[in-house]
Amino acid sequence: MAEKSKILFIGGTGYIGKFIVEASLKQGYPTFPLVRKSTVSDPVKGKLIEKFQKSGAKLIYGDLYDHESLVKAIKQVDVVIATLGHAQLGDQGKIVAAIKEAGNVKRFFPSEFGTDVDRTRAVEPAKTAFATKAQLRRSIEAEGIPYTYVSSNFFAGYFLPSLSQPGATAPPREKVVILGDGNAKAVFNKEDDIGTFTIKAVDDPRTLNKILYIKPPLNTLSFNELVSLWEKKIGKSLEKIYVPEEQVLKNIQEASFPENVGLSISHSAYVLGDQTYFEIEPSFGVEASELYPDVKYTTVDEYLNQFV
Ligand SMILES: NC(=O)c1ccc[n+]([C@@H]2O[C@H](COP(=O)([O-])OP(=O)(O)OC[C@H]3O[C@@H](n4cnc5c(N)ncnc54)[C@H](OP(=O)(O)O)[C@@H]3O)[C@@H](O)[C@H]2O)c1
Repeated sequence: MAEKSKILFIGGTGYIGKFIVEASLKQGYPTFPLVRKSTVSDPVKGKLIEKFQKSGAKLIYGDLYDHESLVKAIKQVDVVIATLGHAQLGDQGKIVAAIKEAGNVKRFFPSEFGTDVDRTRAVEPAKTAFATKAQLRRSIEAEGIPYTYVSSNFFAGYFLPSLSQPGATAPPREKVVILGDGNAKAVFNKEDDIGTFTIKAVDDPRTLNKILYIKPPLNTLSFNELVSLWEKKIGKSLEKIYVPEEQVLKNIQEASFPENVGLSISHSAYVLGDQTYFEIEPSFGVEASELYPDVKYTTVDEYLNQFV
């Protein structure tokens, strides 16, 4: 069997990054998180980095904004996985430039991990955020860099603990606000599973120059289905308040940052059905649970049990 690729993680100490780094270590990949010196001395992140090291990760010091450090880091690996956050998404061209200069990268996974940005119909301000990721795709393709774009849809931990009720810390037990008619389907994936599927794709020729959709059928539910699943678990029926799309759009316009971003993302998924309205064609994409049927992922049904 071919040797496993060496993977550089840019953003491995971030929210989703840490799950992917952990999956890489678990699956036995040579794992190289790029870290800033200041992060190593941070009390919380320092502990996470220590944990990575104990599991076999080899740190590389560097910074997105230090070109030489990036090129040097990239030259030591085969694959680059970026999980930079919102503030750095527009600067990922710096990684593209460094990959070009290094000249050795077999595959680049840019920081995506959400909706398919080429197929979204989101309104502002999500529209611009998604367009930034789409523009990066075009520059990766123009430079001829081999890639996989991971469309992981919703992180379960962001949306399920509150059942997408703004400000809530637990799923509702009295009433629930539903955007639109509640029939559009969205996809919720547990973060560990996103890590597992992403790493499975690293050396897989079937995911080369493709979008890897993490869209297991059991995790693809309409909001109405999600609510009724929750109702069954708590043995109680909730009062349902439906917000017509017109009102959702008005709320987005009236909300300030960052609530307007969250609302426009919710509108895209829950009202427009942007995560599920299209078929995955073999010419551009593959679905993770089909490619890796051996992965025992957590279903939404199982995930919700912890809140009962
Ligand atoms: N599908 C969903 O539900 C969902 C939800 C949220 C986010 N996302 C997407 O997931 C991706 C990652 O977002 P996230 O929220 O996980 O990110 P995050 O928690 O903000 O993490 C950002 C990472 O980037 C690193 N970083 C920041 N500046 C850097 C620099 N100058 N040089 C090197 N590293 C730097 C941070 O390192 P430090 O630890 O040193 O600060 C951290 O590891 C994004 O594309 C985002 O749009 C999807």
